[in-house]
Amino acid sequence: MKIHVLGSAAGGGFPQWNCNCPHCAACRNDHPDYQPRTQSSIAVSANQTDWVLFNASPDILQQLKAFKTLQPARALRDTAIQAIFLMDAQIDHTTGLYMLREHRQPLPIWCHPLVRDDLVTGNPLFKVLSHYCGVDWHEVPLTPTGFDMATVPGLHFAALPLISNAPPYSPHRDQPQPGDNVGVTLTDTATGKTLFYAPGLGAMEPHVWQAMQSADCVLVDGTLWSDDEMIALGASAKTSRSMGHMPQSGPGGMLEWLDRLPAHTRKILIHINNTNPILNAQSPQRQELTRRGVEVCFDGMDIDL
Ligand code: MLT
Ligand code: MN
Ligand code: ZN
Repeated sequence: MKIHVLGSAAGGGFPQWNCNCPHCAACRNDHPDYQPRTQSSIAVSANQTDWVLFNASPDILQQLKAFKTLQPARALRDTAIQAIFLMDAQIDHTTGLYMLREHRQPLPIWCHPLVRDDLVTGNPLFKVLSHYCGVDWHEVPLTPTGFDMATVPGLHFAALPLISNAPPYSPHRDQPQPGDNVGVTLTDTATGKTLFYAPGLGAMEPHVWQAMQSADCVLVDGTLWSDDEMIALGASAKTSRSMGHMPQSGPGGMLEWLDRLPAHTRKILIHINNTNPILNAQSPQRQELTRRGVEVCFDGMDIDL
């Protein structure tokens, strides 16, 4: 399977439009140790013709321009995106759907019913889209056996509930329910290779850990380095964990978990917030990742599994 990283940043992107933290300021001024990043999204295909888009970021038009494979030009109006899988209902993962409103058919969207609920109420994207192309909604079940998409051959999907957080406009904010946030194991049915993808992961649970241990590659939450990163910077009063993102460092942090994975597992961070020191390619934190065999996603990265 081919995985193309369309965007690697958390909500806000990098640099964030209104942020003058040292990282955003340096990136804006073209400092060589920083790379700009759009908001997180990946595209995956087994046959390199039919692609599933994971999340639709506000930066989607820029991302599609940069990845021409998704425009095969077989007809006047065309796309290689055969399905759109939403992991949650957050703004940074859904508002790109508005930019796809010119689609000639209803958008084939796969998400959990709780995510759909938020997208018809608190953030009523699906209602607005009904005045354009409309939405062809498919339920993402949380069954371990998983499911297939007829339009995306060669891939098998198994979604699992995660502890993260529901969006501020959800009735479940700060009390997330199973389905508000999901992770997914993607299997290439021809090769048996697997990817575990979870751009928002707030706490480790046994079923999540099991899925990570079984995967050939884990592409997981890299939002913040430390739990109090936003507080220390004066950027926010929220901890990483309260936002539903496990920090990388510290006891019980993501790095401790990644260290315990089998040696052959490829470990990659995505959804990186603009305050995270790992965005500086020369930072001690980034060097620590390298030492521990953990990669940092970048926009345009290709992962072959
Ligand atoms: C998150 O991942 O916690 C949200 O996307 C934050 C945001 O975009 O405001
Ligand atoms: Mn986010
Ligand atoms: Zn910043």
